[in-house]
Amino acid sequence: MEKTVFITFEGPEGAGKTTVLKKIEERLTERGVDVVATREPGGSVIAEKIRHIILDKNHTEMDPRTEALLYAAARSQHFAETVEPALKEGKVVLCDRFIDSSLTYQGVGRNLGIDAVKAINEFAIGDRMPDVTVLFDLEPEVGLARINANAGREVNRLDKEDLAFHQSVHEAYLHLAERFPERIQVIDASKSLEEVVESAWQCIAPLV
Ligand code: TYD
Repeated sequence: MEKTVFITFEGPEGAGKTTVLKKIEERLTERGVDVVATREPGGSVIAEKIRHIILDKNHTEMDPRTEALLYAAARSQHFAETVEPALKEGKVVLCDRFIDSSLTYQGVGRNLGIDAVKAINEFAIGDRMPDVTVLFDLEPEVGLARINANAGREVNRLDKEDLAFHQSVHEAYLHLAERFPERIQVIDASKSLEEVVESAWQCIAPLV
């Protein structure tokens, strides 16, 4: 494949990924860059339906393996239908969460093991990794407090996990960043929105 610009935004709940992604999308569009903003789980009609099943608060019986497989299934469809065609057309793709969410939430948070979760994701998307991942680093306590303060935000099944779960996910993200330093760029998400947008911009500007 020719040179692509596939950028993912990762991090714990309440880190501001979605808001910052929107600002970066606007900035790129203003500069005349052809950009596609998408999200996981979801980003295509079929994948959004799978999202519904995964995040439903009432699905408390969901087995961790089922959860991991559903995220991978949604990713496979989203990648084939939305991400890959856009990259082939030379568009810049910004994706709110991707494979690192599965490695951290399912691999570590759910104790399935990073290697097992990596294996099912390789089946889903081959060896296609993002070109750059912006990791929003934030203490889980701060992120969860932000979510709870935002009355308009829908609370999903994963948000309802306890603090220890979110702490293990946070640590797992930092380990991934140590393991893949060329791909994963860590930014401090505890700062003001303007500063976080600027840090994210610095990570992606060299690529676009
Ligand atoms: P969402 O409302 O999009 O959360 P956020 O705004 O924090 O991105 O819900 C996505 C949830 O799914 C979030 O709790 C993280 C979780 N998730 C996984 O556990 N594994 C995955 O592979 C992905 C993509 C998300």
